[in-house]
Amino acid sequence: MTSIDKRKDEHIEYAMDPTNRKTENSEFDRLVLEHDCVPEISFDEIDVSSMFLNQSISAPLIIGAMTGGSREGDRINENLAKAAQKLQIPLALGSQRAAIETGRTQKIREIAPDALILGNLGATQVRDHGVEFVKRAVESVNADAMVIHFNPLQELIQPGGDTDWSRILSEIKKCSESLRIPIIAKEVGSGISVRSAKKLQFGGINWMEVAGRGGTSWARIEMSRNSNDYLKKVAEPFLDWGMDTVSLIKLIRRNMNTANLIGSGGIRNGLDVAKCLILGCDLAAVAQPFLSPARKSSEAVIEAVSVYTEQLKWALFLTGSRNLIDLKKVKVYEK
Ligand SMILES: Cc1cc2nc3c(=O)[nH]c(=O)nc-3n(C[C@H](O)[C@H](O)[C@H](O)COP(=O)(O)O)c2cc1C
Repeated sequence: MTSIDKRKDEHIEYAMDPTNRKTENSEFDRLVLEHDCVPEISFDEIDVSSMFLNQSISAPLIIGAMTGGSREGDRINENLAKAAQKLQIPLALGSQRAAIETGRTQKIREIAPDALILGNLGATQVRDHGVEFVKRAVESVNADAMVIHFNPLQELIQPGGDTDWSRILSEIKKCSESLRIPIIAKEVGSGISVRSAKKLQFGGINWMEVAGRGGTSWARIEMSRNSNDYLKKVAEPFLDWGMDTVSLIKLIRRNMNTANLIGSGGIRNGLDVAKCLILGCDLAAVAQPFLSPARKSSEAVIEAVSVYTEQLKWALFLTGSRNLIDLKKVKVYEK
């Protein structure tokens, strides 16, 4: 097992621990949708299908990036891929760095030939290895889009993490100019601010996955793995660093009408998905809640995802919305 594989398996283990989540209540809980006690629709008519990257999907929900493979990761991805294929929802892979560096095959396409598959690499790896490396990652899974993750806090806390973030934007711009598929920029739990989103758009990226504060905390996960007392002291005030998902979605939507937006970071049910869409997201992505089911079986993932889509349909019914176009017109209040 390589050291990256070992680290990835540890991440999976620590991400299951509830203490490695943000401590306060979610900002989603403070949002209330306008209830319609006269919905005038039949529940059976409700349609939550959507379009993403020119393909029809059964719900505006992405299985969020978690693992690109490792001993434990391969089994997880197999279960996630089976569910993505069966339910026709997109699957975002976790970082493919180790697989590409070691030449390991990722059998995603054999399992999910028709599902939308999003590849994944870190921003600093893209800068260091260039366009050809990114193309190998795309080709290895026949990806429909390439996700580049931006995780400066995680890199600061992670032993041996990459703390040189110079020249990232210019290298990513080269990538976005030479790839045939879209690039999606994402954080991993601290969020993409308006300032960052504008820089990313300048770098040729028009899809952003917010991955804001509110769900999985990478600072907490890395701190749990770390035994360096000095680093622990330094990192302490940054454990809940970042900007909340709900605030970021509102801010980006207010300031940047043209960016395509994926809401993520702490989305814990289908009602949160509905709130993301009303706030102006095109889709929502959910990672950690699908981890435990993915360690069990594909059936467990299918059930977990189905709960989200069913809850989304309930939100549509109770707001008198027949489809996602109607949902976007629903009023949202703050408690
Ligand atoms: C076990 C685990 C591994 C992850 N690995 C990656 C990764 O390799 N690449 C990435 O972009 N994000 C990764 N993430 C971050 C998620 O995609 C997501 O942005 C973050 O966990 C916040 O969403 P959540 O609150 O729904 O978990 C990982 C998350 C988890 C829980």
